[in-house]
Amino acid sequence: MRLLVTGGAGYIGSHTSVLLLEAGHDVTVIDNLCNSSPMALERVQELAGRSLRFVEGDVRSREDLNRAFEGGIDAVIHLAALKAVGESCEKPLRYFENNIGGTICLMQVMEVHGVQRLVFSSSATVYGQAESVPVREDAPLRVTNPYGRTKLVMEQLIQDWCAAQPKASAVLLRYFNPVGAHPSGRIGEDPRGEPNNLMPYIAQVALGRREFLRVHGDDYPTIDGTGVRDYLHVMDLADAHLKALKYAVANPGCGVFNLGTGRGYSVREMVAAFEVASGREIHCRIGGRRAGDVSELTADPSRANEILSWRAAHDLAAMCADTWRWQQQNPTGYE
Ligand code: NAD
Ligand code: WQD
Repeated sequence: MRLLVTGGAGYIGSHTSVLLLEAGHDVTVIDNLCNSSPMALERVQELAGRSLRFVEGDVRSREDLNRAFEGGIDAVIHLAALKAVGESCEKPLRYFENNIGGTICLMQVMEVHGVQRLVFSSSATVYGQAESVPVREDAPLRVTNPYGRTKLVMEQLIQDWCAAQPKASAVLLRYFNPVGAHPSGRIGEDPRGEPNNLMPYIAQVALGRREFLRVHGDDYPTIDGTGVRDYLHVMDLADAHLKALKYAVANPGCGVFNLGTGRGYSVREMVAAFEVASGREIHCRIGGRRAGDVSELTADPSRANEILSWRAAHDLAAMCADTWRWQQQNPTGYE
């Protein structure tokens, strides 16, 4: 297929693009590089042994998108978004404009070009503090921050867009906590500045780039008091996009799927696993709870297991080992 990957230079987009190229698809990436490096795309092509087409551009620009659709596109994988929860609370309009505005513009240009297949990066954030875990797709949706609101609104807009066209298909993928890196260590997560997320923070502490990990609370009602999440390997997540595309081709309408392992790990368990993988001690200090955090969130991935024939294959040891390889080989990321 001829595929457009928005945000393809980013963490998840780069890993997904490798698998799409390896599967023989023609890939065009559109990315404005606001949170990524063109070097990621060079390495994607090196790993896949094939080239892709890169359009440096913004999904809020019809002109940039028209350039990306030139030559024909069969389906879009839409990952481009801003994703920092804390920043979204300070600058909600920036998030509404970029994420929601970009998605509306993308759907408009898809319509002009007659493209009716869309795979969308949603997030477990749409569940907020779930009443019970693991969560199924039909659990109540309640967001706790502006970033989460953009994901929920984009899901709803895509559902309405899809319902208005009998042949259109959309797949909403609710990612839980993606971690890890390509096993080669050539591409991985490269946060700018101080990482917001746990795994890159731990990796930077192991490397000595940061002194200690601040554990955001140890008084949650969990096995050891620290927050529990459903971490999944980014290569498994990338693979889910191939399965979602296949599903979109065969099934008009809008499907929604949780992507997680179904198994939760606490912050302390993550630290212990990373210490084993790296052979380094991770210094920790216990701090207060982080505003907006939930105690425990894990996926029930049964729908994706059954309907997409997708299942996370990598365990926590692989997630840590691959993160550590990437971090060691690229101590300052793509710089
Ligand atoms: P990322 O920041 O590494 O990648 C996003 C990419 O989109 C970046 O390369 C950025 O430059 C690009 N981008 C942003 N706004 C753009 C715009 N207006 N026009 C063109 N390009 C733009 O993030 P990621 O972790 O790879 O996340 C990819 C998607 O998955 C996002 O939609 C994110 O919300 C979603 N998601 C991520 C996580 C996670 O923990 N990483 C979890 C759930 C959902
Ligand atoms: C995991 C656990 C923290 C950092 C976020 C977004 C979510 C999704 C994935 C995009 C929690 C603890 C963390 C640190 C810590 N992104 N922690 N010290 O919060 O589950 O999800 O990323 O859609 O929307 O909210 O992930 O990696 O930030 O935190 O103790 O320095 O690690 O409190 O329990 P989270 P995370």
